[in-house]
Amino acid sequence: MSTQIDHLLNETRRFSPPDGFAAQAVGSADLYARAAEDREAFWADQARELHWHTPFTEVLDWSTPPFARWFGDGELNVAYNCLDRHVEAGHGDRVALLWEGEPGDERAITYAELTAEVSRLANVLEGLGVGEGDRVAIYLPMIPEAVAAMLAVARIGAIHSVVFGGFSADSLRSRIDDAGAKVVITADGGYRKGKVSALKPAVDLALADRNGSGVQESVEHVIVVRRGGNDVDWTPGRDLWWHDVVPAAAPTHEARPFPAETPLFILYTSGTTGKPKGILHTSGGYLTQAAFTNRVVHDIHPETDVYWCTADVGWITGHTYVTYGPLANGATQVLYEGTPDAPHPGRWWEIIQKYGVTVFYTAPTAIRSFMKIGRQVPQGFDLSSLRVLGSVGEPINPEAWVWYRDIIGAERTPIVDTWWQTETGAMMISALPGVTETKPGAAQVALPGITIDVVDDDGEHVGTGNGGLLVVTEPWPSMLRGIWGDPERFVETYWEKFADRGFYFAGDGARLDEDGDIWLLGRVDDVMNVSGHRLSTAEIESALVAHEATAEAAVVGASDETTGQAVVAFVILKQSYLDRHSAEGLATTLRAWVGEQIGPIARPRDIYIVGELPKTRSGKIMRRLLRDVAEGREVGDTTTLADTMVMSTIQAKITTK
Ligand code: WT7
Repeated sequence: MSTQIDHLLNETRRFSPPDGFAAQAVGSADLYARAAEDREAFWADQARELHWHTPFTEVLDWSTPPFARWFGDGELNVAYNCLDRHVEAGHGDRVALLWEGEPGDERAITYAELTAEVSRLANVLEGLGVGEGDRVAIYLPMIPEAVAAMLAVARIGAIHSVVFGGFSADSLRSRIDDAGAKVVITADGGYRKGKVSALKPAVDLALADRNGSGVQESVEHVIVVRRGGNDVDWTPGRDLWWHDVVPAAAPTHEARPFPAETPLFILYTSGTTGKPKGILHTSGGYLTQAAFTNRVVHDIHPETDVYWCTADVGWITGHTYVTYGPLANGATQVLYEGTPDAPHPGRWWEIIQKYGVTVFYTAPTAIRSFMKIGRQVPQGFDLSSLRVLGSVGEPINPEAWVWYRDIIGAERTPIVDTWWQTETGAMMISALPGVTETKPGAAQVALPGITIDVVDDDGEHVGTGNGGLLVVTEPWPSMLRGIWGDPERFVETYWEKFADRGFYFAGDGARLDEDGDIWLLGRVDDVMNVSGHRLSTAEIESALVAHEATAEAAVVGASDETTGQAVVAFVILKQSYLDRHSAEGLATTLRAWVGEQIGPIARPRDIYIVGELPKTRSGKIMRRLLRDVAEGREVGDTTTLADTMVMSTIQAKITTK
């Protein structure tokens, strides 16, 4: 990490907001002052931007930390805030979603139309017996129905659990089981890289009786959107076509008020153990911070902006900055089904040109892969409509930051590098365009109303110029309210480390520069960040050892030029398999196996078949040493190994591969 710090220390470029930006900006320096003066009053003001059926009188209840209640005695309907109220304010004809399918088909859906569609689906769900507190799993491609499904679930006070369409049947099943979902909303398939990628078979598999483990019990119905046109198996009674049930339902539905702390969604994310955590978010505080941050950080002017966040709704970025934030703000946004390079490498830039996108939010991994292809691709399109560029998901290296600003942003567009997590629900650290003088590579400053610190192991502030652990020192409105079904893990994972101080431990390393600006340095735990997606070493290890050929496995995240980190696995195979198969063939089999077990994103970039793994005398695998090997570095201190020879055998094996 020290070379990284030195490198960042040399970054001296600074960029002021472009002329005239501040004058029109939604955010201003005044926000910091107001929040500093009275943080709770500041958040109460932001919350009042929403429509409350019953206004709250209480702002924050932190009497039983770490379990927070925000705006606890208020009542609202999240979907009403994202839909009906804009229609009632006379903006029913404003386009909410400018959807572009991968094959080039398109749909523009207004706020009035989306309100009607969500109302119909809400009626359907209620007709199926789904009510307040019930869980609904959503496993869809990036089509308007995905957004509509989330809002319909929210509208009736139920809880959605969106599962990314790239996850396997196994991952889907464990998420459905953990939440006890009553209904699954899916599609036959969606378009990906020019082909239909099927989804329904994974749902069938997830709900089937496998290995006598018992039929999946909680799911009563599966609603299926026809998108791919691919053939699907059908379970009569259980399965319903969206186009049969939704258009037939009434287009009006009363949005009942629910208490502010009503659970809104569960979203699973990888932790340091093999079992993903169901991060729980609630309504009032979440929507407040989602809308506020989208408004001030992306500088959203709903009447004129065309906003585009490229994230899939299967991730938190898609929840907060595709569905909830922009729709709560009444914005017009692009929704794109496919991959950035299908059918040609300029697809994203073509979309920006076509719709006149003004605010664009994407991940560093995408920027780095465009850099690799070369500037001539984006330069073939008119990107002059862009006025704000955002980055999220992992640290953005200064070179990628500057390329993004120069090539995509015509050397003038402010870049906001936004740090946050599934758990934080919304942005926590970011520059404000029009206010902050930006620094390539630094996420910079806590947002107004958010209190962040960088501390040492004892929780002491590290002081400028030093590195340490990132913590949030005070509760915030969109904070997670727990881990579904596991309050102990919630306390243990995030709050135990600094229990005496009451700090939230984010799991990230960070550094404060001389100006007090924050630079994120990556995870400090066994969580990897691959293309801005969180993966757990333990989860991939347990998938690897679940294969009959594997005796033992260790996984590390190695730095990768494009994806930030890449999954590298070290595997000991059972002798009986090595006798019968080539090591290379088995490595290929195992790569595919991990893809099936978890999903293609978890497939290791490299699998090294080794005879032994480096362990301490107490049997703990020393991943630090494996990371040295995976990144081609000289192996560090091996004195605590039980067998100090192990590393040279592993290295010999790898270099001769
Ligand atoms: C982890 C959270 C936030 C939505 C997407 C990822 C890393 C996220 C940044 C950033 C440096 C970042 C952190 C964090 N991360 N944004 N701007 N700079 N690192 O959500 O899957 O919950 O992952 O992503 O390591 O802990 P997530």
